[in-house]
Amino acid sequence: MTYELCNIDDYTEAQYGAMYRAAAPDRQARADKFKHEDDRKRCLCADMLARKMLAKAANVAPEDISFTYSDKGKPRANLPLHFNVSHAGAYVLCAVANTPIGADIEQIKPFRAGMVARYFTAAEAAYIGGNNPPLDGNVTDADTCARFYRVWTAKEAYVKMTGTGISTDLSAVKYDPRTQTVCGLPLITSNAPEGYVISIVKSDL
Ligand SMILES: CC(C)(COP(=O)(O)OP(=O)(O)OC[C@H]1O[C@@H](n2cnc3c(N)ncnc32)[C@H](O)[C@@H]1OP(=O)(O)O)[C@@H](O)C(=O)NCCC(=O)NCCS
Repeated sequence: MTYELCNIDDYTEAQYGAMYRAAAPDRQARADKFKHEDDRKRCLCADMLARKMLAKAANVAPEDISFTYSDKGKPRANLPLHFNVSHAGAYVLCAVANTPIGADIEQIKPFRAGMVARYFTAAEAAYIGGNNPPLDGNVTDADTCARFYRVWTAKEAYVKMTGTGISTDLSAVKYDPRTQTVCGLPLITSNAPEGYVISIVKSDL
């Protein structure tokens, strides 16, 4: 398993032009639709990073890689390899493996307290809030927010690994802070940029 992050601000307009030309028509059309420049950059960087990493892992040319999508939108490459991308703020994360994989990056920022009751188990809520689980309003305490996104990214990475995405009941996807596992699978969480949290989980099948 390998993973890489890229910063969308590290590329010139000329490089974005090259990424656009290297992308498939459907990705070009998606990039064209974005009103905000950063959305366009995340879209093109995600394609570039996935192509670059898959090409290296499979020893093929990036232009020979094509993507298809499941009915829930999970992309798959025309290679015997699995990958998953995620983007947030200035960063794009991509992970490649030989079994299904899910990756999620989130920027640590305030969250709505109601999310905890809605999506988290009692044990996860206790981990996030300690003796003072957040009940309402926006939670802004930096450490609490970091723990919230630690759990949130673990759940998201898991449902991205299975491919079911947001159609899944997230409260059934359990994070264990003691073992740093999600539904029993170990999480990779290291090398997150300052102010961000990442989670990567790989199927053991
Ligand atoms: C997958 C999902 C959880 C992504 O959440 P997010 O935090 O907003 O976005 P992230 O930046 O982490 O990930 C986006 C990437 O996930 C991948 N992705 C999309 N759907 C996916 C899925 N079902 N499973 C795994 N990965 C998926 C794509 O590569 C996408 O990158 P792209 O937008 O550059 O193509 C969410 O969008 C989802 O559940 N989508 C499915 C919606 C659905 O059920 N659609 C039914 C058909 S209309």
